[in-house]
Amino acid sequence: MFYETVDNDHGLPHDPFKSCIVPRPIGWVSTVDGNGVVNLAPYSFFNGVAGNPPMVMFASNGRQPHGLKDTVTNCEETGEFVVNLAIWSLREHMNQTSAPVPRDIDEMELANLTIASSQLVKPPRVKDSPIHMECRHFQTIDLPCDKPDHRNVIVIGHVVGIHIDESLLVDGKVDLSRCRPIARLGYMEYARVDYIFTMERPIA
Ligand SMILES: Cc1cc2nc3c(=O)[nH]c(=O)nc-3n(C[C@H](O)[C@H](O)[C@H](O)COP(=O)(O)O)c2cc1C
Repeated sequence: MFYETVDNDHGLPHDPFKSCIVPRPIGWVSTVDGNGVVNLAPYSFFNGVAGNPPMVMFASNGRQPHGLKDTVTNCEETGEFVVNLAIWSLREHMNQTSAPVPRDIDEMELANLTIASSQLVKPPRVKDSPIHMECRHFQTIDLPCDKPDHRNVIVIGHVVGIHIDESLLVDGKVDLSRCRPIARLGYMEYARVDYIFTMERPIA
């Protein structure tokens, strides 16, 4: 099949676009507002985009009933965010933090999660997540958006500190089989990182 996205005439019951970009890592982003209220939400339009210095991005689409997405508002207001690794054992908590709750609700508390302080930025970390990246907001890029009261943006952050739980370190490497990260597919589907293989790159 082929369809032009301008008409979105794929003829399928659900838009297949996100099923074609898989698996997407989930950036589980914690921020605080100007009053220190903690916000936590998952973003699967998320990735690392540079290594030296390390930079990450997440993209926010649309809006909340109460306004634009709190994560973006907080990042732009305070200049800081933390990315927590979403793992199998925290999947229900992660899902709960995607609820469209007002900005003055502490979403760590709402999802029954324990916080851990960060070292270099104000937003706290999800204690039970084994990897956290402390980030400083670098730039927000506005994208085209079909709906006038919505906003599609890419938020780029500079990773200034990384926490890795010692229990993941085996022979000096991060062994992800020990925490089983989860990733987003299309529709309401997810994948779990269970099967890891190694492949050497060819020498020219
Ligand atoms: C696994 C998962 C991935 C998500 N990825 C995104 C995303 O990439 N971009 C986005 O705008 N919303 C995404 N959402 C929806 C947001 O998490 C949701 O709108 C949330 O309420 C935003 O919260 P905030 O306003 O506190 O930032 C995702 C939801 C889930 C469950």
